[in-house]
Amino acid sequence: MTASPPPGARAHLFERVLQGDPRAIARAISLIEDESPLGADLVRRIFGRTGHAYLVGITGAPGAGKSTLVDRLIGELRRSGQSVGVVAVDPTSPFTGGAILGDRVRMQSHVSDAAVFIRSMATRGNLGGLARATSDAALVLDASGKDIVLIETVGVGQDEVDIVRTADISIVTLVPGAGDEVQALKAGIMEIADIFVVNKADRQGADRTVASVEALLSLESYAGGRWRPPIVKTEANTGKGVAELVAEIERFRVHTAESLGERRRARAEFRVQELMAHRFVQHVHGRVLAAGEFTQLLDRIASRDTDPYTAVDDIMQRSVGAEPFREGGHAGPFGGGGHVTLDHVGIAVADVAQALAFYRDALGLKVDTPEEVASQRVRAHFIPLGESAIELLEATAEDSPIAKYVAKRGPGLHHITVRVDDIRAALAQLKTKGVRLIDEAPRPGAHGSLVAFIHPASAHGVLVELKQTN
Ligand code: CO
Repeated sequence: MTASPPPGARAHLFERVLQGDPRAIARAISLIEDESPLGADLVRRIFGRTGHAYLVGITGAPGAGKSTLVDRLIGELRRSGQSVGVVAVDPTSPFTGGAILGDRVRMQSHVSDAAVFIRSMATRGNLGGLARATSDAALVLDASGKDIVLIETVGVGQDEVDIVRTADISIVTLVPGAGDEVQALKAGIMEIADIFVVNKADRQGADRTVASVEALLSLESYAGGRWRPPIVKTEANTGKGVAELVAEIERFRVHTAESLGERRRARAEFRVQELMAHRFVQHVHGRVLAAGEFTQLLDRIASRDTDPYTAVDDIMQRSVGAEPFREGGHAGPFGGGGHVTLDHVGIAVADVAQALAFYRDALGLKVDTPEEVASQRVRAHFIPLGESAIELLEATAEDSPIAKYVAKRGPGLHHITVRVDDIRAALAQLKTKGVRLIDEAPRPGAHGSLVAFIHPASAHGVLVELKQTN
């Protein structure tokens, strides 16, 4: 069961994003940045319409003049008629999205250009969150029809590597002066560079920086047509070298056209792995551990009452089979936040021996010991099938509802039973939707369960039973 969107806002927003509406794009990125379930829902909706934009990642040490460089790049790309989206990430900034940071003011020169959309993003506290949000923001810009999406990050840490990894090309920016190369090397950022830019190339020491990168590159083998990262000298302040940089980006794009799919597949793998880990942790904290339990667990580890492996094994054990965490905007018995499964299918049989000959003997299914339901004058034979079951219903008296059913309609499907978290909430919701109920309030079922029936008139000829097991 999937959560249907509330009428209006969401569907509308996603359509407006696809039309390239700047206000819708801004709103969509805000939802993503806030880690709102609506943001995830939006990504689901637009994802099929992405993959057309070329993603250019730019990173480097602080003070490398990336913002100015990006500003120049936008100008150069616009001259060639391409539309441009920019996601500028500043993990150190305390400001949230939408804030135009001091050094971004220059980008304001493109503010009146409808083919350019610029957005600053800041960290929301957790490390993986920013890489996720940035990548989703890039998807929004892609879906909105931008030809090029520039992802600019400040810094050289793992976060930046992760962010730039989501791009189709990675540009590492250096400036003349001590420390930069060493710092970049430490972070392993050299390995992700497809193009090196030495910005502020008019400064002293530019040639030495170029030489040190050259020295690094000379340690690698670029045989067999492997791309050798070029080193482009730029002066973002004057725009010198920016046309060459765009040309190198284009040359890389052509060179890697055939392997682009592979790179995007690797990106997908990274994203899925990361999201899986994130969702699992969310699930554990939201659904498995009780309030305060995590802190107690840490205390117990600290006092050597238990060890991390035992603790995690226990959590794993408790997580398997637990309800999956669903980020649904509308929690409810039939909404994204609720858990609904098929409990069983009830089949009215005329001759139980013949039915067993089929289900047990021919299909080879295991049949539980039959249960008498005295009030209904019925004997129920349960056949477990994974999380669900088949229930063969045999009348034990002529006035049994099952006997009447078989007499009137013949043997066959009698009811389906769905398990819900909260049967009262489910009934209340169905009532508001005008569904005809046989039971307006739940009544006791087998094994301490609560059950209620929905009228076949509302369920297209099938009797539907709701069941809450605890
Ligand atoms: Co049943």
